[in-house]
Amino acid sequence: MFKVGVFGVGHLGKFHLNNWKEIPGTEIVGFYDPNDDTALEVADKYQLPRFLDADSLIDACDAIDVVAPTNYHFELCEKAIKKGKHVFVEKPLANTMDEARQLVKLTAESGIKCQVGHVERFNPAFLAIKGMPLNPMFIEVHRLAQFNPRGTEVSVILDLMIHDIDIILSIVKSDVKSISASGVAVMTETPDIANVRIEFNNGCVANLTSSRISMKKMRKIRLFQKDSYIGIDFLNKKTEVIKLKEPQDSNVFAFDIETPSGKKTIAMANPLIPEVNAIKEELTAFKNAIQQNTRTTVTEVDGLMAMDVAHQILEKIGNNIISRS
Ligand SMILES: NC(=O)c1ccc[n+]([C@@H]2O[C@H](COP(=O)([O-])OP(=O)(O)OC[C@H]3O[C@@H](n4cnc5c(N)ncnc54)[C@H](O)[C@@H]3O)[C@@H](O)[C@H]2O)c1
Repeated sequence: MFKVGVFGVGHLGKFHLNNWKEIPGTEIVGFYDPNDDTALEVADKYQLPRFLDADSLIDACDAIDVVAPTNYHFELCEKAIKKGKHVFVEKPLANTMDEARQLVKLTAESGIKCQVGHVERFNPAFLAIKGMPLNPMFIEVHRLAQFNPRGTEVSVILDLMIHDIDIILSIVKSDVKSISASGVAVMTETPDIANVRIEFNNGCVANLTSSRISMKKMRKIRLFQKDSYIGIDFLNKKTEVIKLKEPQDSNVFAFDIETPSGKKTIAMANPLIPEVNAIKEELTAFKNAIQQNTRTTVTEVDGLMAMDVAHQILEKIGNNIISRS
């Protein structure tokens, strides 16, 4: 049995408990949460032991799952890694760059497996394009959400945009050349809406808009590459691919257009969307990486790189922020 302990059983922690319960070969040893009301409710509903100190739960597990607020990620992960326990930690990896670098170093020294909760990597709409050749030159991203006080202890960049930053860094195999950004603090003291342009050394440009003060929700990434357009709708779990038709593209909707260089046939396709739950997929992938001694899908280095870009964006916004006062 794979023994896991969950640290933090608030909003997202409960989803993790539900999913761990469904993953075969897993035993939830218990949970740790300092909030008495939450802990009593969870102990009763899930019939799980509540541990009153973090160390005892870490000692009793093979791996810990950190779903506590971001400012506690470092201390919980550090304790566990030093005890040789594997770590799944929610995004962002840590509160500060210094903490994130220390976690990367500790993980490398101990040899444990660490996975960061950049769950969009497991979104069925993104899994649908797995294996497709990706070489975008232009990326357009919109992540819009209605206002919710949960998560507002950090800016919209670390709360929402970091999901897209991680996805983009996983796709664009080139270093960041420059970043420009602008943000507005409307409902909180930190940016609630931001627009960012990231230029990569290979010429790719990503334009990201994130808002947590919108009237409607949207989570879309559009990739434009030489021979195709790929639209990924993370919210509605739909993906579309539009490209020049190739002989092997059968059973796709296609139409002709006249161009200066002759007739071209355009093919439109909706790749098959796997019927999976992203959180269950990411937790299963973490367990498999430990048991099969393979690399985790979203490593601590990936988590650090996403934070690095997020912090560069925040520095840029520092000069460009428009506050409501
Ligand atoms: N991957 C995603 O899409 C996603 C979505 C939401 C939240 N998150 C991340 O998940 C984490 C938790 O977010 P949430 O929305 O569930 O917050 P939440 O406030 O609903 O829950 C956090 C829980 O952690 C508990 N807690 C506080 N200090 C703790 C400690 N030292 N040890 C253990 N537990 C502690 C709190 O009592 C609370 O029950 C954050 O890091 C957040 O960034 C990720």
